[in-house]
Amino acid sequence: MTRLSVLQYPDPRLHTVAAPVQLVNEDIRRLVADMTQTMYALDGIGLAATQVDVHLQIIVLDVSERRNRLQVLINPSIIKMGGKAEFEEGCLSVPDVYESVRRAAWVHVRALDLNGKTIDVQAEGLKAMCIQHEMDHLQGMVFVEHLSPTNQRRILNALSKQGRRSNSRA
Ligand code: NI
Repeated sequence: MTRLSVLQYPDPRLHTVAAPVQLVNEDIRRLVADMTQTMYALDGIGLAATQVDVHLQIIVLDVSERRNRLQVLINPSIIKMGGKAEFEEGCLSVPDVYESVRRAAWVHVRALDLNGKTIDVQAEGLKAMCIQHEMDHLQGMVFVEHLSPTNQRRILNALSKQGRRSNSRA
């Protein structure tokens, strides 16, 4: 397994729309294993293939405390969603930024698993938030883009200052 590097916002590649996986084969399973290792290594609760610059509809997530409930969703689509919830979200592609985003409180998702079999997943709470956040990535959308233009500018300014600081240390 390989730990993959994660694209950092505002990298324009994060705006790529992912294509559906045509066939769940060994290459896809290897990619999922690498994405899983990367997510756990960085202590994330979810990761979309878009974030590792692979533009296929694949997400991995694990919102469990013990980090032992991996969920892999290939070609996920939302069948039904409802309610309203708001969570403080973060993203492996947007370091040190946590912002509240309003989303559906529950989702019913259909996807393929690692064997190419269709699965139905019902989720609520943190898991529902995470699925919606990762599915946004597959559409080329980063969570901060749900915020007002003023807040987005504030975040971009803060990130560019962070960048300058780290450059000056190099
Ligand atoms: Ni994210």
